Amino acid sequence: MANKIQIINGPNLNMLGQREPEIYGSLSFEQYLEKLRPKFPDIDILYFQSNVEGEIINCLQKVNDYDAAIINLAGYSHTSISIADTLKAIDKLVVEVHISNVHAREEFRQKLITASACKGVITGLGLDGYELAVRYCIQNNFAG
Ligand code: DQA
Repeated sequence: MANKIQIINGPNLNMLGQREPEIYGSLSFEQYLEKLRPKFPDIDILYFQSNVEGEIINCLQKVNDYDAAIINLAGYSHTSISIADTLKAIDKLVVEVHISNVHAREEFRQKLITASACKGVITGLGLDGYELAVRYCIQNNFAG
């Protein structure tokens, strides 16, 4: 059976392509997925986006549905103790991605509450960060 990677995008990432394109680019995530999936034909890349904290937690808690997760919690990365608690409670490889370089932006974006509960963080490499995270999961055999 194919390994499954669950991508989870948080608030406002459903607006990629329209939202501040000078920061986040002009592609929607669906358009990006069309390019990403064929690069990994042996991996099942699942995608979930929500603007609602509890829905993100519910998705993360379904650990039997995926082998690794790639998360961009957007604004919740800086605020959500609840999602950080979920990440600590699950025994899965999780990589955090940010499209923009949060360290080169406002001070409030530099605190990543969820990052310490993840394996690592990729920030500032645009949408390529997701592909790099997929490669990391494969190279490390989905082991957290
Ligand atoms: C983001 C960075 C966050 O600070 C911001 O709230 C987002 C997107 C990124 O991918 O660069 O919504 O996570």
